[in-house]
Amino acid sequence: MNAALAKLYQSIAPRLAAVEQEIAETLACPQPEIASLLEVSGRYGGKRMRPALVLLVASELGCVDARHERLAAVTELIHLATLVHDDVIDEADMRRNVSTVNAAHGNYEAVLLGDIIFARAIHLLAKLGDRRSLLVLTRAVSTLCEGEILQNRHRRDPDLSEATYYSVIGGKTAELYAAGAGLAAHVAGANEGVVEAFSLFGEKLGLAFQIIDDCLDVTGDEREVGKSLGTDLRNGKMTLPVILFRESGAAAERALVRKVFSDAVDPAAAGSLRELLVEKGFIRAAARVAAAHVEEGLEALRRAVGRPLPAMEAIGQYVLERSL
Ligand code: IPE
Ligand code: IPE
Ligand code: MG
Ligand code: MG
Repeated sequence: MNAALAKLYQSIAPRLAAVEQEIAETLACPQPEIASLLEVSGRYGGKRMRPALVLLVASELGCVDARHERLAAVTELIHLATLVHDDVIDEADMRRNVSTVNAAHGNYEAVLLGDIIFARAIHLLAKLGDRRSLLVLTRAVSTLCEGEILQNRHRRDPDLSEATYYSVIGGKTAELYAAGAGLAAHVAGANEGVVEAFSLFGEKLGLAFQIIDDCLDVTGDEREVGKSLGTDLRNGKMTLPVILFRESGAAAERALVRKVFSDAVDPAAAGSLRELLVEKGFIRAAARVAAAHVEEGLEALRRAVGRPLPAMEAIGQYVLERSL
């Protein structure tokens, strides 16, 4: 874990350790072949952003307990299952600095492993015994998959609108952040207005997280980020910097985006688009949009809670500043 994350997680470190334990127990299996598959997928690396958000929300409200640890473990397990499946559909080779499950063991086992992790996550959620958590998180899993399908339907669509882009990232990424933050407040006993505000903050944080992730796909370092990068343009996946670029100008910009998103893959066109995104400031522009989302979320929280929220500001700042 890098220094910025360690600092952000300092106040919740013992709780996060308990979450790790819960995840390890949930992924345990007496069958050695399956156990090794489950362990590799669960234990190594990962920023643990979603469980940290759950714990930070609860401690911000001064009311963190063992139920939050369980809720936090569930959010990470759901995330983990989606990553295993996402790497199948994106044909990705590297995740968390190691081979993806699909690259190492094939799609057959990766699909089933993702299902096992989903099932175990929901099993653990049932053990939490909180009806609202069960309703919100099972819906979030569905919304997440819907976002991935919507994204697929618009693959190689150079005209994908900003509204549809937000539907995609709202589903595939922001919904789980929203669910985790809102439910953490709910389990902490917060009133409905506060729960809603944390849920909105989680959503905005999740949107910002995905926008920065889109930027890192262009500018990031694979070793540092720990996964295959440069894949969005190659796979015809529209991102905010590309939308901003497309909308910035005239025919030439649109024509380049069309060329990059056409079926005939042209690495030279993708390379020049990537350079223009960086040099002409579209990556920075997208990062500013991400910052505005975080600020909007924080504003809603301050209004609902009536005081500054330093832990939420810190997590917002981390999301915006990670390795850009
Ligand atoms: C990756 O999420 C998937 C996205 C939503 C971009 P993370 O960047 O949180 O992945 P890990 O958990 O740290 O590996
Ligand atoms: C994020 O999608 C995965 C989910 C939230 C399910 P991406 O495909 O954009 O994320 P990475 O780049 O593989 O982490
Ligand atoms: Mg992917
Ligand atoms: Mg994907």
